[in-house]
Amino acid sequence: MSSLLFPILLTAAAYAKAKTALAKLTNTNKAALATGMGWEKGPCVGNIAAITAIGFPELCLQDGPLGVRYAPGVTAFPAGITTGSTWDTSLMYARGNALGTESKALGVHVQLGPVAGPLGKIPQVEYEMHLSDWKLNRIGWKELGSFSNDPYLAGVAMAQTVTGMQAASVQACAKHFIGNEQEHDRSSMSSNIDDRALHELYLWPFTEAVKANVSFVMCSYNKVGPAWACENGTLITNILKNELDFQGWVVSDWAAQHTTVGSSNAGIDMSMPGDNFGDNKFVWGVALVSAVSSNQVAQSRLDDIALCILAGWYFLGQENSYPTITGWSSWSTATSGAPSVSGTHNTVAQAIARDGIVLLKNSNNALPLKKPASLAVVGYDAVLNPQGANACVDRDCDNRTLAKGWDSGTAQFPHLIAPLDAIKAQASTDGTVLATSTSDTPSAGDSAAASAATALVFINADLGEGYITVEGNAGDCNNLDSWHNGNDLAAAVAALNKKTIVVIHSVGPLILESILTLPSVVAVVWAGIPSQESGNGLVDVLYGSTNPSGKLPFTIAKAAADYGTSGLFIDYRHFDKNSIVPRYEFGFGLSYTMFSYSNLFISALRAATPSAGIAPGGLKSLYDVAATVSATITNGTVEGKEVAQLYVSLPSDSAGASGNPIKQLRGFSKLDLKPGGSGKVVFELRRKDLSFWDTGNKSWIVPTEKFGVVIGASCRDGRLTGTLGS
Ligand code: NOJ
Repeated sequence: MSSLLFPILLTAAAYAKAKTALAKLTNTNKAALATGMGWEKGPCVGNIAAITAIGFPELCLQDGPLGVRYAPGVTAFPAGITTGSTWDTSLMYARGNALGTESKALGVHVQLGPVAGPLGKIPQVEYEMHLSDWKLNRIGWKELGSFSNDPYLAGVAMAQTVTGMQAASVQACAKHFIGNEQEHDRSSMSSNIDDRALHELYLWPFTEAVKANVSFVMCSYNKVGPAWACENGTLITNILKNELDFQGWVVSDWAAQHTTVGSSNAGIDMSMPGDNFGDNKFVWGVALVSAVSSNQVAQSRLDDIALCILAGWYFLGQENSYPTITGWSSWSTATSGAPSVSGTHNTVAQAIARDGIVLLKNSNNALPLKKPASLAVVGYDAVLNPQGANACVDRDCDNRTLAKGWDSGTAQFPHLIAPLDAIKAQASTDGTVLATSTSDTPSAGDSAAASAATALVFINADLGEGYITVEGNAGDCNNLDSWHNGNDLAAAVAALNKKTIVVIHSVGPLILESILTLPSVVAVVWAGIPSQESGNGLVDVLYGSTNPSGKLPFTIAKAAADYGTSGLFIDYRHFDKNSIVPRYEFGFGLSYTMFSYSNLFISALRAATPSAGIAPGGLKSLYDVAATVSATITNGTVEGKEVAQLYVSLPSDSAGASGNPIKQLRGFSKLDLKPGGSGKVVFELRRKDLSFWDTGNKSWIVPTEKFGVVIGASCRDGRLTGTLGS
């Protein structure tokens, strides 16, 4: 851990207890504390043996960011990307807290989430791999866990999730540190990220997690530059522990560690799962004790490792009557006596599934549906897998409605409300005659839609983790098209000249041009990866009991080739720089009402003189409030929520700022307003929000000239514009 600011007040008591316990441990104990018991050697995906002398229990580390993996009786929460698209900090917190509560009740000490990244679309970093083997526009599975490819939005969501989880006494894990932007060749490729992009983009969400006191960080499979992420002292010790002042512990991703001495001297603190997936060969354990005896690893490093792990455990109060694992194991389907822990968390899952929905198109108020006399529901994606929601291992199939992707971050569905189930219930209340076609065959869709005035067409696009290949997609998706020719299905139905409403379940952006150009496609709804309450959340929005309020956490382009960035220019930064018009820009989302923006207020810049640079040890002052911006939002005729977004343009000036993105998200606020109601959004800009990373001085610098400030409804829908500074 860092000695610069250590100990911070919050953890001083935990460190004191940890030091007392440490004094009772032998080197063998300390190494055991840092080394997993081996793959499948305990009930969790990662297990540390108990040390009875200090009352330390067998420690359970369990996936994942969307729910407690392999456990019965849990809630299967919406994916990170759907949580991100709510832009709702209270829902981000509630999801983290519910995940933490369920983990604790099941005896899980460390929840392996949340996930930061991937931030940009490939290839925004350079890869040491055969580019001929590379398909543009692959998107890594980790978007299932991650919230957005914008570092600011992802950072807020990371911090809220960590705070929520840890308020439930469960240690959170920010992962995968760092540059794990793709599944393809994840264990052999290198993400070569320049220092400025590292700080301003990839490190940003981790920094917010550290600021939220995250207990630990997982280093990733890939290399960063010449060194493996888990063997990279520059990243782990110099940047994460010293510069960011991270005081928790660093765990290897599963078998991402390569050497005994290199990884310990680089600064990692725990080896997982211990052996290499069951080969009984331990990189640490006795090998670490020997490395200390032979002075290849300092005694102080081993002490530091053990201290961090103990301090994290004490910090969350896990020494006080923590539940033990009862009646479940990752490696058995028998669940006798396991507690049911989901409580009322289905309401959190439904609120996210609903408020994460982004209404992309709504011509002539086609939505909300108002007791239609007839309605056709078309598409494979509208219904439940006949073999059951959990039929595919780690959800490794796209077999009917897509509510989760495939990966180690998945959880068992307690139930899955498919869209058609929820629509049927509503149709029966409304007296609507339903016609259905639950295949992706265009002719079948046409027959079903022929008799109805309005057709809802469901399409999807899945992705997952690289240890499984689904329909030719080895984790990352091969392209940005809907699966099973979904665009063709939608086009066939639209050709009937019915009012056609397309609903999309996807992990990330899709190219929708062939659908959007059809005049009878009157509405398009992006419903993300909604998980167990999918149909319920969707019906709330389709029928207008809830006004849609989600906004895109990424850009939807007109063509796949419009993406493709380098350095700082990911997502909307790239479109801005290259004057490319996206189809739907970052931050975009329609509502059934209209919001107006007024009363822009921009305070003076509080720093009297520009910063001469904030050195790493001065990290805390980076978070001082430097300026306040506010505005009034007024609602139209229907109750609804608006996400007001603040974008800042850094000046290129004498302080050295140049090559900045045209604008960057630096604040957002979601207001719930009655018809005709108004409310105030207030954004506090921290010094870091107004800084750039100076690679020469290795410090954050606030430029000296005027900043552009825009408050708007998306990154391209600015409503109020002003300047900050003089
Ligand atoms: C590999 C994944 O990258 C990581 O996120 C997960 O926690 C571990 N496997 C354990 O399942």
